[in-house]
Amino acid sequence: MTDVGIDAIEIWTGKLKLDLAETFAPEMGEDPEKYTKGLGLYASSFPDAHEDIVTMGANAAHRLMERKGLTPDDIGRIDVATESAFDNSKPVSTYIAGCLEQVYDEDFHHANKGERKFACISGTQSLDDAYNWIKAGRNRGRSALVVATDTALYARGDPGEATQGAGAVAMIVSEDPDLVELSTEQGYGSADETDFLKPNQQFPSVDGKRSMQVYLARMREALEDFESVAGDTHPDDYAFIPYHTPFPGMVRKAGLLGYRHMIRGTEYEDDLADAIDRQPREDEFDEREDYEEAIRDYMDDLKSTDQYQEWYGEAVDPTLDISREVGNWYTGSVHIARASALRHAAENDLDVTGDRLLVGSYGSGAQAEIHAETVQEGWREEIDALDVDEQIRNRYDISFEEYEQVHDRHNHEKTVEMEAFTEPSGEFVFTGRGAMDERVYEYVE
Ligand code: COA
Repeated sequence: MTDVGIDAIEIWTGKLKLDLAETFAPEMGEDPEKYTKGLGLYASSFPDAHEDIVTMGANAAHRLMERKGLTPDDIGRIDVATESAFDNSKPVSTYIAGCLEQVYDEDFHHANKGERKFACISGTQSLDDAYNWIKAGRNRGRSALVVATDTALYARGDPGEATQGAGAVAMIVSEDPDLVELSTEQGYGSADETDFLKPNQQFPSVDGKRSMQVYLARMREALEDFESVAGDTHPDDYAFIPYHTPFPGMVRKAGLLGYRHMIRGTEYEDDLADAIDRQPREDEFDEREDYEEAIRDYMDDLKSTDQYQEWYGEAVDPTLDISREVGNWYTGSVHIARASALRHAAENDLDVTGDRLLVGSYGSGAQAEIHAETVQEGWREEIDALDVDEQIRNRYDISFEEYEQVHDRHNHEKTVEMEAFTEPSGEFVFTGRGAMDERVYEYVE
């Protein structure tokens, strides 16, 4: 059977930066450490006046195609994952194809295009669609272009405001991939939930605390479902565990839960037994409440053990480096977590070829999915080609007044003219609206 997976990725961050500790916290009357330590975020990315989900997605895709020497003839489908779409009929993928056709001689008329929606998990679902298309032998030698692009904006004053972000991740899915091979083993945890939704509105209605509980509950279900096909998981089996990262503090909780689950019944649990006892088992308790309390106490103890800290520091913490600087990118977030981990491996000269990743995706509403990936030989070259650090460094640092203006500019219910803070160069930009209220884009040399 042919190996199928992610051949290459490109990341495009919104060009503006809101510093959470320096700029946002004082205006909110909050201690900066609520953001830097509590949520684990230093800054959020925002789109400049000429940026939106189309420009960020098209720019990431263009750069990726150039780097891989691909032209439209090499691409058989374009799948866009987003929860920031501005049209209920025409998919963002058609806009992105239209942008790319401005800079290539060939067109994308042969390519199947679509848009996937299921909150933040649709980026991973789009990868799945591409994988299945190739595995089914329907790709005629072509690759798929998957783009996860979002402007994750919350209403002003919403507790989620601190976790905003904007950016796109473009991925090429192909046979014999250079970056990671996707495995057929998958687990799901899916239920009808109302933790976060946008009923025909741009900014989400969120029950933040509930969304955190639902994330953990669905993720646990998905892990159990994954183990039902792949066998028991063990902390030593995976070099990195990239999770969907709405903010790093969420992943801190998911990491602890995952570790407790994985060490249950293993030598790791035995090693810890002298220090923190063994994990409570449900059949030892008459009441579910007592069991849950005992589990919470165990997790509190587990969190501070050297064994757990060491594992978390190696397998999970490196997945959060990019996210800390850019905030939540919704559909792209788990994919920047993977890139962040591999970038850490490259910076530390770790040889991860052949190593496995356990990838945990989540979308509110709600569904978690867990699957394994194997790092491919070409990973180092692919990761070395990313310039995400430079992009992050070069963002224009906005004041709070500028932030208010930027938020309004991207509010679909307002019409706000605003001078861009940055000068576009070699990229697609939004130029205004056409006769049918369609959005119009052009390439700026
Ligand atoms: N120093 C250090 N930590 C601090 C702090 C300080 N001065 N002040 C608060 N904190 C910690 C809190 O203890 C909490 O950590 P914990 O959950 O580990 O206890 C964290 O910072 C956040 O503080 P909290 O008061 O819970 O923040 P909030 O209620 O204003 O908002 C969310 C937090 C997540 C509910 C909010 O950002 C949100 O709604 N986000 C959008 C939804 C989302 O992303 N959900 C995740 C699943 S997809």
